Parts: sequence; C-alpha cells; structure tokens
Amino acid sequence: MDKMSRPSEKILTSKEEMLLAKEAQYCSWGDTVHYAKELKIFSLSEGIYVYDSHGTQYLDLQMWHSVANFGYKNQYINNIVKDQIDALPQLSCQYLHEEKILLAEKIAKNIEKTFGEKGRVHFNIGGASAIEDAIKIVRNHTKKNSAFAFMGGYHGRTLGATAITSSFRYREHFGHFADRAHFVPYPYQFRCPSDRGKDCCDMSCFKDFEKLFGSEYYSLVNPKTKNCEYGAFFVEPVQATGGYIVPPKGYFKELKKLLDRHQVLFVDDEVHMGFYRTGKMWAIEHFDVVPDIIVFGKACTNGLNPLSGIWAKEHLISPEVFPPGSTHSTYSSNSIGTAAALGVMNLIEASDFSASVPEKGKYFLDRLNGLKKKYPQIGDVDGLGLALRIEICQKDGRTPDRELTEKIMNIGLKGKLTAAGRQRGLLLSIGGYFKNVFTLAPSLYITHQEIDLAIDLFDEAFSEGLR
Ligand SMILES: Cc1ncc(COP(=O)(O)O)c(C=O)c1O
Repeated sequence: MDKMSRPSEKILTSKEEMLLAKEAQYCSWGDTVHYAKELKIFSLSEGIYVYDSHGTQYLDLQMWHSVANFGYKNQYINNIVKDQIDALPQLSCQYLHEEKILLAEKIAKNIEKTFGEKGRVHFNIGGASAIEDAIKIVRNHTKKNSAFAFMGGYHGRTLGATAITSSFRYREHFGHFADRAHFVPYPYQFRCPSDRGKDCCDMSCFKDFEKLFGSEYYSLVNPKTKNCEYGAFFVEPVQATGGYIVPPKGYFKELKKLLDRHQVLFVDDEVHMGFYRTGKMWAIEHFDVVPDIIVFGKACTNGLNPLSGIWAKEHLISPEVFPPGSTHSTYSSNSIGTAAALGVMNLIEASDFSASVPEKGKYFLDRLNGLKKKYPQIGDVDGLGLALRIEICQKDGRTPDRELTEKIMNIGLKGKLTAAGRQRGLLLSIGGYFKNVFTLAPSLYITHQEIDLAIDLFDEAFSEGLR
C-alpha cells in the first residue's frame, strides 16, 4: 500500500502511539534519538524532504548529518543498488568483486590528481571504524600510541575514536580508553581561543601550540632530536560536530609545516565534509595542504549501505608494511556499498558541484546574513560551500543560548510551520561546543527556491522560539 494514502488519521495516530510505546520499552535510549523532546516516526524521504506518517512534509537541512548529500531517493544511485541486489547482493569480503577494485582505483586516482600523491584505499563500514584503521596505520608507521586532536573535534564513538574525540561526556562513564589525545584549541574565530575578535585573527592559537615544541619541558618533543611523542594529528578541515567551524585560510598550512618538521602525520578526517559538502571533493583542498591519510565515510554511498574507508600514502599502506589481515571487518567492502559508492563517484564526475555548491552556498549564506541582521540572538553565521552554521546566543549576540536553540529545533520537528502557505516541518541538527549552533547540511541539489523556503521556515521557527 502507498504509505502516503493510508486509511484514516485516527488509525495512523494510534499506530504511531503504539510504535512509540514499543520504542520507549524496547529500544535503547543510548543513541541520539532522545535528544529531541517530541519523537516522530518518518515514513518517506525524497530529494530534500522527509514525510512523517501523517504525510506532513519536512524540509531537511541536515540530510542525515551530511550523509545524503545527493538527495534522498536519488534515482541514479538507487538504480545502481537495485541492479547490484539482482546481480551480486552478497559476497564475503574475503573475495574480490569488480566494484570494490574500481572504487579504490577511482578514489586513489582522484587523490593522486588533486594532491600529486600515490596511495591505496582500505574500506570499512562506518566513520569510526575507518578512524580506528587510520590509528592503526599511524601506530604501525610511527610506533607511537599518542596523537594530537582538536578541542571540539569529533571522530566517532568506538573506544579508539572516542579517545581522540574531545567531549569528556562521551568517555565519562566507560572506563579506560585507548591513549587519550592531546587536545589543541581549534581556530574557532567567533570564540577565539586567544580572545582576539572574529576579524583580527593573528593565528595566536597556532603560535601558542608551536611554542610547545620549543622545550622538552613543555612535554611534547625533544627539540634536539626533534622527536615528538605524538604520531599524528587528527584534523577536521571544517569542524563538524563542533559547529561547522571554518578555520582561517593559512592555519593548516602552518600546522602541516610544523608537523612535518617533527614527522607527525596529518590525518585528514573527511567523514563529514568529504564528497563536495564544502564545494570540493575533500574539504582540505581549500587549505593548500597535502594530507598523509584521508578518512572518508557518510556521503560516499549517499547513505545506501554503510561504507567508509581510508586512503594513505603508499609508504604507509603498501603490502610490505600493512600486510594481509592488518585490519578487517565482515562487512568492510560489501558489494552493495561499493556499488553505491562507485555510482556516487560516477555521478560526481558527471556533475559540476565545484561550481554549483559554492554558488548556492553563497546565496544561502547571504540570506542567513539577512536573518542575522534581523535577530540579535544570531551571534554568527558562516560557512564553506553548503556546510553552513548559525550560532544562537542571548540578546548580547555572544552568550550561548542552548535553550533557545533546542526550542527552535523542537518547533521545526513539530511539523506545524505554515510559512509559504502549507503546513510543514523543518529538520535541524544542533552542534557546537555549547550545543547552540545549527549545523546546516542541505542536499547539494537544493534549489534557490528551496533555500528561500528554508529561510522562511527558519524565520518562522525562530520568531516562535522567541515568544
Ligand atoms: C568528522 C567525523 N568523523 C568521524 C565520524 C564518525 O562516523 P560514524 O558515525 O559513521 O562512525 C563522524 C560522525 O559524525 C564525523 O563527523
């Protein structure tokens, strides 16, 4: 039966109530579902929209945290998956299939063309598991257990990935973790770690970090031998869960030079920002840096089957140093995921996201700046491509207002907005150090009309939130 033409709202509602009661009893609440006040059950998704079981349309401004970059139910990628289900739906990852090999080739060639480096690709299932693989490569090559990572950084919730993820809350109840990272302030200009203003960055946070390499008593290096206790720096080129923070242009270039002097590997976590979220295949391309390892996941299959992976420079991952069995997971290069990802790569090659994403991002950001002028509670708006941020504050435009942010998110989730003449909802994700930032990741196919609609819906939700 067509899910949109169900019999009557009364039956629907009681079915929804019944499902929610079961959820409350049988589902773990340990994931992120219960961050929301009011739970919804969704039944359809298409383009940039999802629909609840009443048929209410929700404009999705987070697209599964930047997984469905190419739109829900993208027919081109869906058809590839359907064909794969009919041809080779399952195959033990111990054996080879065409799509895995061609996908690895495409990613490796893309990186070689962009960064001028040869390397290999290793697949896994989720972002965190690919991060674990990157940690292994680092340890194997450097023989060092410890890594640098950024405050505000997020790399996943497996034990190893959580150890380099900044939030203490994620580790708090779970005992001893792998070696905890040394966390370094991220160049977050709106809340500058060195208390400079947003527009007067002198990279003093980088200079403070660099100083620590000057004496063995600052605990990181032996300046005589240049040997550093840390094997790698895990970097998000645009900090995602931290609140879609765009760093100043020159920061990573200086950081890479410093790390190279001490043979510290630069691990580029593109799980969230890769696959054109920022207008380039890899967000680090904006910053003129050649990473040693790239980690990807999320949008590589447009969400159709879990797949993630790492690319590493040849000398870090060649069979001589990373032999068979170094890392593996049952589902790691599954045939449906690799087919979907190969479809995504083909789609990318046939599209012009490097032109369309920055153009739409600029239009969206201009409109957000319009809202910022209207509401003093919008402390900051910024973005790179279609990774956009709205930081919600009290009236002073500085003090984070988590309560208002959550209120606006819950208003969107209720599905009762009426801007643009039809009842709709708005799906928003919250990130940021103080959970007061809307992190916007719309479909890369969003139209200008949909951007206008997004602004109208957000405006309505915001003004209702202030009441
Ligand atoms: C930058 C980054 N790295 C790693 C991860 C972990 O990915 P996953 O949730 O697929 O394990 C995420 C997830 O949001 C992320 O944003």
